[in-house]
Amino acid sequence: MHIQILGSAAGGGFPQWNCNCRNCAGLRAGTLNAEARTQSSIALSDDGVNWVLCNASPDIRAQIEAFPALQPARRLRDTAIAAVLLMDSQIDHVTGLLTLREGCPHPVWCTEMVHQDLTSGFPLFTMLQHWNGGLVWNPIALDGEPFTIPACPGLRFTAIALRSSAPPYSPHRGNPHPGDNIGLFVEDLRTGGSLFYAPGLGQVDEALLGWMRRADCLLVDGTLWRDDEMRVCEVGDKLGSEMGHLPQSGPGGMLEVLDGLPDKRRVLIHINNTNPILDADSAERAELDARGIEVARDGMAIRL
Ligand code: MLT
Ligand code: MN
Ligand code: ZN
Repeated sequence: MHIQILGSAAGGGFPQWNCNCRNCAGLRAGTLNAEARTQSSIALSDDGVNWVLCNASPDIRAQIEAFPALQPARRLRDTAIAAVLLMDSQIDHVTGLLTLREGCPHPVWCTEMVHQDLTSGFPLFTMLQHWNGGLVWNPIALDGEPFTIPACPGLRFTAIALRSSAPPYSPHRGNPHPGDNIGLFVEDLRTGGSLFYAPGLGQVDEALLGWMRRADCLLVDGTLWRDDEMRVCEVGDKLGSEMGHLPQSGPGGMLEVLDGLPDKRRVLIHINNTNPILDADSAERAELDARGIEVARDGMAIRL
């Protein structure tokens, strides 16, 4: 399985256009030992030719320019993005579908809940009908049954419902439903390699730990170092826990979870621009290094 990290930042990216926090200002000034990052998306492939885009970032145009394998190669108008899979209906994970309109129709895999949001509060499915057939919905069931996507027959996907909150424009905001947000377990049927991917992960229970234990590589929520980080950085008042993001530090935090899974490749993704782990010289990054936990970068490639 080929895993390409197209964008490793949370919503807003790094630096965020209107942000002057220590990280964003330091990156612009060149005084911070850090790299810019685009908004959250990865691409998966069984053969390195046909790709499943997991989430469609608002930065997708730049992400395609930075990754030649996705660029047109066979016909006058062409893409190697053969399918799109959505983990939720958040702006940073779906807005790229608008940019892909010239290549419609696109097959899109998502849950009933995400499809509801994208036909009501943020009606991308409805709008894009006007572009050559638009988005063709393939429902993701939450029955624990694996499914395949024709473009990558060598990969087997299982969706796992995660507890989180739907976006502000969702008709069921504040009333969480299974399928608002999923994690993915992906196996390569030839190599046996497996990935657990969850860029938005608010809570880890025993059932979820079971999936994480089965995977060779964990690519998981790295949004915030501390739950009250937005407050401490004075950029907002929402807690990570309110947004469905488990912080890395503290009791029950992501570091504690990952400490219990030491034999895996462990990579944090969907990193918010306030997170001190973006600074390669920070004490927090040193703590990750000491534990063997990696921080995803744009352009990072993983083979399983
Ligand atoms: C989130 O995951 O909470 C998002 O990054 C929020 C957003 O994009 O606005
Ligand atoms: Mn996000
Ligand atoms: Zn910032």
